[in-house]
Amino acid sequence: MLAHRLIERKRDGGKIEAGEWRALASAYAKGHVPDYQMAALLMACYLRGLDRTETAALTEAMIASGDTLDLSDIDRPRVDKHSTGGVGDKVSLVLAPLIASLGVAVPMMSGRSLGHTGGTLDKLESIPGFRTDLSLEQARAHVKRLNCALMAQTPEIAPADRKMYSLRGATATIESMPLIASSIMSKKLAEGLTGLVLDIKRGSGAFLPELDRGLELAKTMIELGADHGCPVVALVTAMDRPLGRACGNALEVEESIATLKGEGPSDLLEVTYALGAEMLLLAGTVPDRPTARREMEESIGTGAAAAQFQRIIEAQGGNPGVVDDPAVLPQANECEIFPAPRRGFIARVEPRTIGRGIIEMGGGRSTVTDRVDPTVGFVITAQPGDFVEGGEPLATIFAADRAGIEIGRRTLRNAIHLADEADLPLPLVSHRVTAAGVELYTPD
Ligand code: URA
Repeated sequence: MLAHRLIERKRDGGKIEAGEWRALASAYAKGHVPDYQMAALLMACYLRGLDRTETAALTEAMIASGDTLDLSDIDRPRVDKHSTGGVGDKVSLVLAPLIASLGVAVPMMSGRSLGHTGGTLDKLESIPGFRTDLSLEQARAHVKRLNCALMAQTPEIAPADRKMYSLRGATATIESMPLIASSIMSKKLAEGLTGLVLDIKRGSGAFLPELDRGLELAKTMIELGADHGCPVVALVTAMDRPLGRACGNALEVEESIATLKGEGPSDLLEVTYALGAEMLLLAGTVPDRPTARREMEESIGTGAAAAQFQRIIEAQGGNPGVVDDPAVLPQANECEIFPAPRRGFIARVEPRTIGRGIIEMGGGRSTVTDRVDPTVGFVITAQPGDFVEGGEPLATIFAADRAGIEIGRRTLRNAIHLADEADLPLPLVSHRVTAAGVELYTPD
């Protein structure tokens, strides 16, 4: 009866009170509210919106529907990073071991590929043996011992969100600002963090391509963090082109390991350093950004960050040999160079087209139950702004078979735009958002 009353009220533009959200989320998590009623309520929320108080109450209710990762006995700062998702966005794989190697605990709960964007869990699972389905106890033990756990949302963490999120995927109610903010923050706040850094993507490959929508999301999540005494800082970063060169699960793991060894592409490294500096500042282990940068460079330079990743991989059941030898990763059956069709400037590399191509080649998901082929994807060496001659290699296609190579060729023909002049790409990191407001990003 409760659900029916709330659907009616929200449908007519009314508000749902904190106690009602709590009762509803708890009943839904226990299976006492049917999916069809929750779907109707979610659509009413999507259409009518939630105000600030309701968004906070929904977040609370989803956290309270399950357990939290109690890390309060760990005497180190606990900081995580969340990205709104992109193509080639493998920052988490570099950042988590890097920051963990500097004495900060990183309990990182990640997701799977969603729409045209990749997912950290799928990338990690391309390492033979790697398990992301840690229990809360295992996650606690890993964080205690190694400063890091790279894990999926457990059944105990925000179970109401878990069910609602998959229902939203099936009912076209994902793209709602308050639902996105409360969903992400319920999981992050259940990790027992002392700080959170958000990577808000903008540009054609982002879920929210427009800057003002991204800033609104950042502001809402910062406020939700403040409600729980968890300081949140957001950086706005570019997703008008893929990040780094590799796009596709195993290929991205290989590039992440190269980056941890100081051999990664400069854009990936810059975004990682920018987000890492915010994590270290939130953790309070450095006084300023130049010191943060120096510490991160040192950890990469001495091999400490790569060694940390190796230990994390081993602890989570993966083959640690992958850090020394990328051939441990599953390899594509077919690969082919993609040449420039003519001379000119690389005007654009469309991330959405690349992401959709990878799904078509079997490397992403159309539905949550799809299996992912870890081997397929692209390594795109041509960057926006580069001048290339006709026939010059722009990318390599990795596919399961010849049909996949054909999809790869078509994808790259559509994604890589050659022109007589280069477009101006978005700045890699453009804005910093804190509880105090929005500022233009300057690295020092
Ligand atoms: N990721 C989440 O966890 N929830 C959303 O609503 C969107 C992205």
